[in-house]
Amino acid sequence: MRLSRYFLPVLKETPAEAQIASHRLMLRAGMIKQASAGIYSWLPLGFKVLRKLENIVHEEQQRAGHIPMLMPTLQSAELWKESGRYDAYGPEMLRIRDRHDRDMLYGPTNEEMITDIFRSYVRSYKDLPLTLYHIQWKFRDEVRPRFGVMRGREFFMKDGYNFDLTKEDALHAYNRHLVSYLRTYERMGLQAIPMRADGGPIGGDYTHEFLVLAETGESEVFYDSEITDLTFGDRQIDYDDVAQCEAVLEEFTSRYARTDETHDEAVFAEVPEERRRTARGIEVGQIFYFGTKYSEAMGATVQGPDGKPVEVHMGSHGIGVSRLIGAIIEANHDDKGIIWPEGVTPFHVGIVNLKTGDAEADAACESLYKALEAKGLEPLYDDRDERAGGKFATMDLIGLPWRITVGPRGLKNGVVEVTSRRTGESEEMAPDAAIEKIIGIYAGL
Ligand SMILES: Nc1ncnc2c1ncn2[C@@H]1O[C@H](COP(=O)(O)OP(=O)(O)O)[C@@H](O)[C@H]1O
Ligand SMILES: [Mg+2]
Repeated sequence: MRLSRYFLPVLKETPAEAQIASHRLMLRAGMIKQASAGIYSWLPLGFKVLRKLENIVHEEQQRAGHIPMLMPTLQSAELWKESGRYDAYGPEMLRIRDRHDRDMLYGPTNEEMITDIFRSYVRSYKDLPLTLYHIQWKFRDEVRPRFGVMRGREFFMKDGYNFDLTKEDALHAYNRHLVSYLRTYERMGLQAIPMRADGGPIGGDYTHEFLVLAETGESEVFYDSEITDLTFGDRQIDYDDVAQCEAVLEEFTSRYARTDETHDEAVFAEVPEERRRTARGIEVGQIFYFGTKYSEAMGATVQGPDGKPVEVHMGSHGIGVSRLIGAIIEANHDDKGIIWPEGVTPFHVGIVNLKTGDAEADAACESLYKALEAKGLEPLYDDRDERAGGKFATMDLIGLPWRITVGPRGLKNGVVEVTSRRTGESEEMAPDAAIEKIIGIYAGL
């Protein structure tokens, strides 16, 4: 993409309404525009990051064997009356009446709808296990939408649902989700810690929330500092291997890590004092096993091996895809702007032409741009006729992790400059070497 042809409405001023860095930076970098309270338009740069996160979530879900589909945003109230949640959900549910006076709602989640789909088609235990998921917009009429996409009213969420014959099988699905979530967040450059959580309106005994540590997080968290040393890395997991998935759950959840909702001072006191940490965190996902709660209420049964009907065991598993962008920025920024992790950056590299109009500089930028594109990378080329300082400020603000700077003076010596946004360090090298370097950085991603 050439910046002269892109739509990147960056703001010079810091918007007064934004209280935290990620919200400020998303507005300033022209990623989002508020449409009304807690509802945003995703401008091209923001949309690009959203799509990247969505793709990572899809890839990791499918790697775990989960099946993608898509359910609508608008739902009929009937299903929610069946489960009993139409009344239980309260004012966070946006209720709508259509022209025929039918009660509808904008889905805050999809347990009822997926259970209805399941019971309509699945008859036998032989069709299990089954895990279906979708990534779709949700609406929750939050009392205090705030912090931009962090607590929106409309937000983008991956929600997956497992259907299993037994509790044991459903717990394997739970573990599979835990493993796939660890991989997902790490690919996004985040450490998200599974913490024991509270069932809330969905109900259930087994539930973990995934929290990214950040001062601006809404949850208070308590944990054993050993937990932040754990990384998932590039281990190869066989998602059908029950013992292997369970071992990962053990490894990542055996140390103390809880949110304020489940925090227990007495148990926390057993952690050696020098390892006890109190901090704040952003909830970027949650997994639940809730047994037969919905299958019982809605009659989702299959014929078991002995021919008798069995209510299926279920769980649901969410990732806050749009919130994640806020969490990533909270964890990766400085006073100049965003610093995208390579795995989610909207463009792989910025090309800054220090002297647009100079024949040699223009030609060198063009050839870098074409060579990078030919390798499947997406450069953002600042070809505008603007001062260098302004171009650097824009690149720093939008946070591309790598920048190639091209100017007549360097070109006389046969070099361009490659700069890391994270460290600020620059290195001079021949244009070909710069291309190789950028290709190398993204090779494994
Ligand atoms: N209002 C919101 N704005 C943005 N993301 C949200 C919002 N509510 C929930 N999410 C995201 O969706 C994920 C799954 O939702 P869920 O666990 O049902 O939400 P909650 O714990 O807030 O009831 C959460 O972990 C969070 O990352
Ligand atoms: Mg939650």
